Amino acid sequence: MMKKLAIGNDHVAIDMKNELKAYLEGKGYEIVNVGTDVASKSFDYAISGYKVARMVADGEVDGGILICGTGVGISLSANKVNGIRCCVCSEPYSAKLSKMHNNSNIIAFGARVIGVEMAKMICDEWLNAEFEGGRHQRRVNQIMEIQDTQNLVIPE
Ligand code: RB5
Repeated sequence: MMKKLAIGNDHVAIDMKNELKAYLEGKGYEIVNVGTDVASKSFDYAISGYKVARMVADGEVDGGILICGTGVGISLSANKVNGIRCCVCSEPYSAKLSKMHNNSNIIAFGARVIGVEMAKMICDEWLNAEFEGGRHQRRVNQIMEIQDTQNLVIPE
């Protein structure tokens, strides 16, 4: 059960970040904000992507939420940290399945792509889903094998 989450953003996503943070705190989650709160100054998304990913990979939080304009740059940054499976989702179905099948540990979306109510639904579905394991564990192991060895032993 994810209870403590890190949230990060760039200058594009400050309002959405604040609204989501309040929403999730209202539901009992502890939210650690590592993103920018300075709307007047451009802020490089990779910094927040890295910070949230580091905290998740180090076990300081149970999961992470990342928001930039599209969710793309910030998710790419997070996915460069070993152990991170960050998925960009613009709707709840993919968010839910990203946990159930891919064991995502960070969810990302774009403040220029979706509205805040959709973002809340995405977070709800993601946070309430559980990794199913089984055949999905084998596939997640393959993802991590690619990360760890830059290779994949292809099964017969
Ligand atoms: C910032 O203009 C924008 O590039 C950023 O928020 C994000 O969309 C990048 O992927």
